[in-house]
Amino acid sequence: MIGFTETVLRDANQSLIATRLPYDKFKDILSTMDKAGYYSVECWGGATFDSCLRYLNEDPWERLRKIREAMPNTKLQMLLRGQNVLGYKHYPDDFVKLFVERSIANGIDIIRIFDALNDLRNIKLAVETTVNNGGIASGAISYTQSPVHSLDAFASLSSEMQKMGCQTICIKDMAGVMSPKEAYDLIHAIKDKVSLPIILHTHCTTGLAYMTALKAVEAGADVIDTATSCFSGGTSQPATETLAFALGQMGYDLGKLDTKVLKEVNDFFMPVKEEFVQNGMLIPKVLSTDTNALTYKIPGGMLSNLIAQLRAQNAMDKFDEVLLETPRVREDLGYPPLVTPMSQMVGVQAVTNVLQGERYKIISKEVKAYFRGEYGKAPGDVNQEVKAKALGDEKEVEGRYADTLEPIVEKTKAELGDKAESIEDVLSYIAFPAQAEKFFEAREEARSKRVKYTISVCED
Ligand code: CO
Repeated sequence: MIGFTETVLRDANQSLIATRLPYDKFKDILSTMDKAGYYSVECWGGATFDSCLRYLNEDPWERLRKIREAMPNTKLQMLLRGQNVLGYKHYPDDFVKLFVERSIANGIDIIRIFDALNDLRNIKLAVETTVNNGGIASGAISYTQSPVHSLDAFASLSSEMQKMGCQTICIKDMAGVMSPKEAYDLIHAIKDKVSLPIILHTHCTTGLAYMTALKAVEAGADVIDTATSCFSGGTSQPATETLAFALGQMGYDLGKLDTKVLKEVNDFFMPVKEEFVQNGMLIPKVLSTDTNALTYKIPGGMLSNLIAQLRAQNAMDKFDEVLLETPRVREDLGYPPLVTPMSQMVGVQAVTNVLQGERYKIISKEVKAYFRGEYGKAPGDVNQEVKAKALGDEKEVEGRYADTLEPIVEKTKAELGDKAESIEDVLSYIAFPAQAEKFFEAREEARSKRVKYTISVCED
């Protein structure tokens, strides 16, 4: 049977409209989505948490509880950046553990867990906590191409994830650069080593995704990530209805997937999409196919960042040099997958190297932290000369970086006092202090307004 994970509430929302979809704009379709027969609905984690607090004035935990209530029959899924949780740096273990526990307690069934460097030490705690709390831990491989990322290396990684307790393996191609052939070969290689269900996650960015999904299914993938058609394509996932149509016609068993309900879901989201087109949040560029990533081996988002940086410095004439420098910096760093935060790190350093006219004359603090081992272990050998220059007198982290961090939960709880109304508030604050504080204040103010209003009505 082929399962479908619907991404409209998380990845499609994140990839097409910068995660600006408020709860009120999708709440009325949740009970319908609950009848669609999806394998799961990805609805939380990734950038949604940050966006709720930062832009939407929503409590992300309350959003999750409301989705849970409206969708009692569907597995709810979130994306977790391993030891980074939902942020960009490593957190202490007490925070990671409690965050996972409360995510499951508030309604999450499946946690997809990845590390940008595929350093398994950075996903172990989250995986074990998920399993111990009755959740489904999906180990996700950050897919990339490089001389050190062979089929064997990825297959061994999957096998380690199985030993760790992961119940499914997800191949996560954030940049949409995985070709149909690569997916086919990779899934075969993984299936030789592990017995777990395999999930394919890709993006339409380069136009390969439909073919890649099809070949993945032919190779034995069990679940594919798709988005309802009006929120599909471009930097988002391939369309749910389209793949259901094609695979169904080829005779694949799609389980309880109900095409009538899929149409209702899409009909609901069409005017929502139109609204985001009208307000300028959904731009045509993210919906088109961009094959540059195939030529330059640089993900689309990263390429736009490089261009933006060069334009800001009035240095677009250096573009070709930067394109040559980027893979060299990546090699010096031991071939990290070009995903957040590595893509930003490599890109900024490449631009700096070119604009300074001398390589590593200035080394960013992120690259220094990377060489100290604060992000985990590099996939391949790093350039020792560059590393020595980056480290200077500073020492490398011994062992796992999170082991060097002090526990943070109890301390923060005490500091926040009454400002935090729940343990979830404390977690929000640790994840995004400034945004959470602003949200707590707005929540307080909204309440005091409500009280005044009630009194004025009473006096009447
Ligand atoms: Co994605």
